[in-house]
Amino acid sequence: MAIDFDQIEREALALLGSACDSAALEQWRLAHLGRSSPLIAALGTLGSLPKVDRREVGQRGNQVKQALERAFEQAAERVRHTELERAIAAGTIDVTLPGRPRRRGRLHPATQTLRRIYAIFAEMGFQIYRSREVETDQYNFELLNIPKHHPARDMWDTFYTTTPNVILRTHTSPGQIHVMRERYPEPIRVILPGLCYRYEQITARSEIQFSQVEGLAIGRHITMADLKGTLTAFAHGLFGSQVRTRFRSDHFPFTEPSAEMDVECFVCDGAGCSVCKQSGWLEILGCGMVHPVVLQNGGYDPREFSGFAFGMGPQRITMLIHKIDDIRYFVANDLRFLEQF
Ligand code: FA5
Repeated sequence: MAIDFDQIEREALALLGSACDSAALEQWRLAHLGRSSPLIAALGTLGSLPKVDRREVGQRGNQVKQALERAFEQAAERVRHTELERAIAAGTIDVTLPGRPRRRGRLHPATQTLRRIYAIFAEMGFQIYRSREVETDQYNFELLNIPKHHPARDMWDTFYTTTPNVILRTHTSPGQIHVMRERYPEPIRVILPGLCYRYEQITARSEIQFSQVEGLAIGRHITMADLKGTLTAFAHGLFGSQVRTRFRSDHFPFTEPSAEMDVECFVCDGAGCSVCKQSGWLEILGCGMVHPVVLQNGGYDPREFSGFAFGMGPQRITMLIHKIDDIRYFVANDLRFLEQF
């Protein structure tokens, strides 16, 4: 028997006009677009039609279905409007009540610090370079002038894997070698952010997984003055242009000379307090001039090129900025902590 889609459409549309509230609309939807409605039932029988008719009949059936769906949406909009107007007129809805504010998400405090660090270095022309977290002993240590059995390895307690010589990087410094080998003979100005791993006791100051931001600049006439100028500009950008900085000599096998940079304690303005342990200064990063052996391992001739490098811990810096006394809050996912930032 031929399916009369025109009649199905006519009848359904005629009845839709008289559905004037949501209950009637829902009834109409079930009767005309529901699974047992004449239209949907008819569409289900298409398979039994002769092949030659199937396409044409199917197309017409779908057209009717789409027309009914469109008409239903329009009617629903009209009914919503009328019902709202009726409710306002009857006083059952008070449109002057304040709306319910949506809770907005926010960036993790450590991510906020990271983004400020990126922005400050981007302004000075540094690009971001991503390097791998799983490293070889060669990149993490040897190419950075830390041979096997060298006592300097004790500075970094390492996570080893079951694959010989494959480790989790203990710092972002191996990225220096990757970027040098990739960019040679171009000058380099990059920061290398990322996660590092150390097999340490977890304490209020130390995590086994934490982030670092490394920096590396290589060129033909780079001096310690460039290092000091860049890092001082960075400290002014992050902590304010009034903050004083100082460099203390230190030792890292991959830089010579090496230094640690302190900023004047911004909690007590240098007078001495519990945050700076009464010293008036806060240590924020390690740095130095790239060691000639490291330059050479990266492919740069140390007689022609020089450079500086630095490495900092954004979580420790965030702790200083917000006076957070325990690094473990960063990964505890406690909303009472996170909502403060
Ligand atoms: C280094 O890792 C050097 N690679 C930094 C460097 C790079 C020096 C380039 C010179 C030139 P250090 O071990 O001090 O240095 O770590 C750097 C920073 O990482 C620390 O100041 C600290 O902020 C952070 N850090 C180190 N260990 C942890 C830890 N367990 N938990 C959280 N942050 C840490």
